[in-house]
Amino acid sequence: MKKITIFCLFFFAHVAASEVKNFLIFGARGWIGQKIVGIITQQGHNAICAQSRLENRQDIINEIEKTKPHYIINSAGITGTPNVDWCETHKAETLRTNVIGTLNLADICYMYNIHLTNISTGCIYEYDEKHPLGSGIGFTEEEAPNFDASFYSKTKIKLEELLLEYPNVLNLRVKMPLSTELNKGFIGKIIHYKKIINVPNSLCVLDDLLPCAVDMTLREIKGNYNFVNPGAMSHSEILDLYKKYLAPDHTYESFSFEEQNKVITTRRSNAELSASKLLKLYPDVPHIKDSIINIFQKIKNNQLF
Ligand SMILES: NC(=O)c1ccc[n+]([C@@H]2O[C@H](COP(=O)([O-])OP(=O)(O)OC[C@H]3O[C@@H](n4cnc5c(N)ncnc54)[C@H](OP(=O)(O)O)[C@@H]3O)[C@@H](O)[C@H]2O)c1
Repeated sequence: MKKITIFCLFFFAHVAASEVKNFLIFGARGWIGQKIVGIITQQGHNAICAQSRLENRQDIINEIEKTKPHYIINSAGITGTPNVDWCETHKAETLRTNVIGTLNLADICYMYNIHLTNISTGCIYEYDEKHPLGSGIGFTEEEAPNFDASFYSKTKIKLEELLLEYPNVLNLRVKMPLSTELNKGFIGKIIHYKKIINVPNSLCVLDDLLPCAVDMTLREIKGNYNFVNPGAMSHSEILDLYKKYLAPDHTYESFSFEEQNKVITTRRSNAELSASKLLKLYPDVPHIKDSIINIFQKIKNNQLF
């Protein structure tokens, strides 16, 4: 019995040698890219960290010729430092990576007949009359984006419009990502803010969804997907769970959109996205609230992603 268990564990953790695939990863040193590399490696495939910059076409071609990838995943992108406000004053740099560079990569993948998975953003919608705040009616992939108030979001909308014309592309719309690495991502941001706005949003728990991204790549799934857990949570609902599970002494205050707009350059996207299309492929992706509780419990028990 013991022998069978050991064999099964080995079998599920590693693919057979003949099935090992080469993944070329752009943005492999970034937050999301590093996690993707970890998952691919853990599964027994080869994760090759791309050296070329997205805007340097010939370098990408040379790298593909050299590494012969079966799949390419792009998690390179400009998000701005310390935040997306940076993009307002660095428009050409943002455009060159988020639009021109990413299209460049998609075009080369098309020429080489390689499937491309692109990590993009769901921050391209905001609540409106058809999708009122708190209604639970999420924007679907078929509905046109309605939030381009920040230059960052604008670049991602322009990109999507053209990128999805390529038949070899899967576009994953990550929104407000978080993981057990609490110093990064959405929770990492809001636990350091003295004041928060309080509005429900869709969120992407990377621990749940990045393994799906790798699986979707292996299955060569194409098209556009809202890459979020089902449901939505507000900033204070999340912070109340943070207090309950990890930091009982944590305090925060709420402020209005008007007050928030005084301390940021551009408005932020607040919306619920429908996860229905993704759930048809992965029905076990947990509701956001269950997943966040699970994240906090893992941190408490030191089981980090
Ligand atoms: N983090 C979020 O809150 C969030 C939310 C939704 C969607 N996303 C999307 O997810 C993607 C990854 O985000 P992340 O949080 O992992 O960002 P990150 O930690 O800043 O990593 C981005 C990576 O992209 C690389 N990069 C930037 N411009 C490049 C170029 N022209 N050519 C090649 N590599 C380039 C960076 O390398 P260098 O440092 O060497 O430039 C870095 O390794 C982005 O497209 C972002 O829009 C992120």
